[in-house]
Amino acid sequence: MVSILTSRLAIFLAATCVCAALDVDLTSVASIQSAANVVAQSLLSYYHGDEPGQVPGILPGPPQRGTGPYYWWEGDVLWGTMVDYWHYTNDTTFNEATTQALLFQSEDTYNSANWSLSMGNDDQGFWAMSAMLAAEVGYPDPPADQPQWLALAQGVFNNLVSRWEPELCGGGLRWQVFTHNVGFDYKNTIATGIMFNIGARLARYTRNDSYATWAERSWDWLVQLNYIDDQYNVYDSAHIGDNCTIVDKAQFSYNAAVLAEGLAYMYAYTNASAKWQTPLAGLVNRTLEFFFPDGIMIEQPCERPTTLAPFVADPIMAALQSSAAGAAKSCNPNGTCGFRWTTGAYDGNTGAGQQMSALAALMSLLVTQESVPPLTESSGGTSKGDPGAGNHAPALPGALPPITMGDRVGAGILTTFLVASLLAGMWWLMRD
Ligand SMILES: *[C@@H]1O[C@H](CO)[C@@H](O)[C@H](O)[C@H]1NC(C)=O
Ligand SMILES: *[C@@H]1O[C@H](CO)[C@@H](O)[C@H](O)[C@H]1NC(C)=O
Ligand SMILES: *[C@@H]1O[C@H](CO)[C@@H](O)[C@H](O)[C@H]1NC(C)=O
Ligand SMILES: *[C@@H]1O[C@H](CO)[C@@H](O)[C@H](O)[C@H]1NC(C)=O
Ligand SMILES: *[C@@H]1O[C@H](CO)[C@@H](O)[C@H](O)[C@H]1NC(C)=O
Ligand SMILES: *[C@@H]1O[C@H](CO)[C@@H](O)[C@H](O)[C@H]1NC(C)=O
Ligand SMILES: *[C@@H]1O[C@H](CO)[C@@H](O)[C@H](O)[C@H]1NC(C)=O
Repeated sequence: MVSILTSRLAIFLAATCVCAALDVDLTSVASIQSAANVVAQSLLSYYHGDEPGQVPGILPGPPQRGTGPYYWWEGDVLWGTMVDYWHYTNDTTFNEATTQALLFQSEDTYNSANWSLSMGNDDQGFWAMSAMLAAEVGYPDPPADQPQWLALAQGVFNNLVSRWEPELCGGGLRWQVFTHNVGFDYKNTIATGIMFNIGARLARYTRNDSYATWAERSWDWLVQLNYIDDQYNVYDSAHIGDNCTIVDKAQFSYNAAVLAEGLAYMYAYTNASAKWQTPLAGLVNRTLEFFFPDGIMIEQPCERPTTLAPFVADPIMAALQSSAAGAAKSCNPNGTCGFRWTTGAYDGNTGAGQQMSALAALMSLLVTQESVPPLTESSGGTSKGDPGAGNHAPALPGALPPITMGDRVGAGILTTFLVASLLAGMWWLMRD
């Protein structure tokens, strides 16, 4: 009898928990900020790098060491999220950990020998995108004797440029940095797309046209080799052995998102050149259609195995709103969030990646509060640059088994984070 009652009670409680979601009024800035705070605290409970004896900047991992499920690059996504968190809330609670993390891992231009066996051009690039974001949102500059946000982004960009090989596939970037890693033999969209993204942002921030030239070269290469087709489907990669002619047609939202954001920056930098306007409209259109089929963001391969350009800004905001609503429903009142946002409830699938994605979706709505576009050197940006940063020999490999594509796709949940934050970044620029 007791056990029947207990089990009924358990069923009743379980049902109650499914109904109770994170309490947030998506029309109220204060409510979104306080919900973001609850989700951020839950997110940071996964981080121990600022505790004695731990390595600053990384989430527990990498998996090959058996110390936790997170790869090095996922730490970066965390700190990019926290830069956004500060920017959207003014809450400085996590700034000390954020600054320490972004500086500690910047060793050798975000290419520490510790991570060489999983060092992709994209891994390095994600950290650089967070450093660039810090410069663009006016996140507090590090002390003068420490590396500076802009110079860090420039250093990584220079590293990427040094790895462009016109003699293989006519250019483009390989996925991996080091010869022995799985993925060194193919050139992919995310590596080349991040080069495009950072180049476009550096061009706009510094007004140095060299960055725009490289950005244009990266984009043109992706189009020429049919990594992007004429319907603006964005495909993943191709092998060097075939001279990059046989393109793997998998579509991941992060590829489309880094390109869309880069296009928005090129469009802004060139004062609305048609060269960038046409693909910007087409890619946003296709991205919303493909990754937001019912208005809420999904990762196709993972879940189903503005006045200048209001035509882009309005549909992006509509998609961000419905995604934030779905994300909020996926969270418990204590800020623990699930993976799928289309179910209307918490799905029990938790982790730091889920927290980052939900936090980014919530915060993306606050972009409507922005009164100024991303900063540049001539519009209030204070971060110091160094055009020659990063021009040094690569670090030597360490001693971990290389990661595989399967490992990477397993971590693909974080691509959702990128879409929310990058689309918000685009909206910010386009609305202006
Ligand atoms: C943060 O504080 C600054 C300066 O007080 C203010 O201008 C800005 O609107 C605030 N931003 C948010 C998101 O509350
Ligand atoms: C690299 O790993 C060593 C050993 O765990 C650690 O002491 C050091 O702080 C790490 N450096 C970085 C940049 O992660
Ligand atoms: C390899 O591909 C590039 C880019 O499409 C092309 O320019 C080059 O001629 C190709 N090389 C060979 C040997 O087919
Ligand atoms: C865009 O406009 C600004 C301000 O009018 C001007 O300084 C800049 O040179 C223009 N850029 C291009 C690429 O035409
Ligand atoms: C977006 O695609 C739809 C059909 O897929 C088309 O009708 C519409 O004109 C496109 N919009 C833009 C801005 O390209
Ligand atoms: C948050 O709430 C859920 C559902 O009630 C529960 O399963 C989970 O343990 C809670 N997490 C924390 C950190 O309290
Ligand atoms: C512009 O960027 C290029 C490429 O990084 C660099 O070589 C050059 O020194 C920069 N020019 C200025 C004026 O900073």
